[in-house]
Amino acid sequence: MRKKIVAGNWKMNKTLEEAGALAAEVMGMVADEVKGNVRVVFCVPFPYLLPIKNQVGNNTRIAVGAQNCSEHEAGAYTGEVSAAMLRSMGIPYVILGHSERRQYFGEDGKLLAKKVDIALKYGLTPIFCCGEPLDVREKNEHEKLVKQQVEEALFHLDSASLEKVVIAYEPVWAIGTGKTASAQQAQDMHAIIRRHLASKYDKSVADNISILYGGSVNAANAKELFASADVDGGLVGGASLKSREFTEIIKAIG
Ligand code: PGA
Repeated sequence: MRKKIVAGNWKMNKTLEEAGALAAEVMGMVADEVKGNVRVVFCVPFPYLLPIKNQVGNNTRIAVGAQNCSEHEAGAYTGEVSAAMLRSMGIPYVILGHSERRQYFGEDGKLLAKKVDIALKYGLTPIFCCGEPLDVREKNEHEKLVKQQVEEALFHLDSASLEKVVIAYEPVWAIGTGKTASAQQAQDMHAIIRRHLASKYDKSVADNISILYGGSVNAANAKELFASADVDGGLVGGASLKSREFTEIIKAIG
């Protein structure tokens, strides 16, 4: 059985006080209203990792994640945060290869392979993001690009390591635009990713990997998106900043 996960990507939003209030609200609503074993992850800005982690405490349904980590072990890399640091703080998840990192910070497949390696070395679960920009979809080359993104960053792993990775398919044209992929478009691409993993590894490995959908997920569309066979949850940006909306998204996972 694959893990169902709803991760909130808070990006560079909220003051410390606002972040604490958001976490408290979601925690309360999840405790009162969410049944089942969906895993919720708050992917928060680096400075909030420890305070939010302390706030979450030993809640077994909610975990805290970072939004990035360095490809380097340690050293003179001003402003960077290492996987070892995240590990030492007891942070279990890290988003890697988000399209904003690819676009604004020049992250490519080669670099992301290194980040995936170092995250796994320190026992973190990478939430590895892939997804095509609009022009690529319009040229009908999305399948090729997403397969390539997955190959470049993940295909060097052995199956035991690959099984520790969570994949998030996030079409860039759907991120922060209010324009979501249809449930069919999401399902099609998730199935393509899973088949691609099965062709390199084997079906049982591919069947164990959670693949999340991201891109304008909200309370109104989550249920339909999450109903697809290969969609194991969501990576949610804007809507994760609103406690009621985010909770409804969590509840939408059946
Ligand atoms: P969005 O962002 O839900 O605001 O589209 C998703 C993401 O970037 O992970």
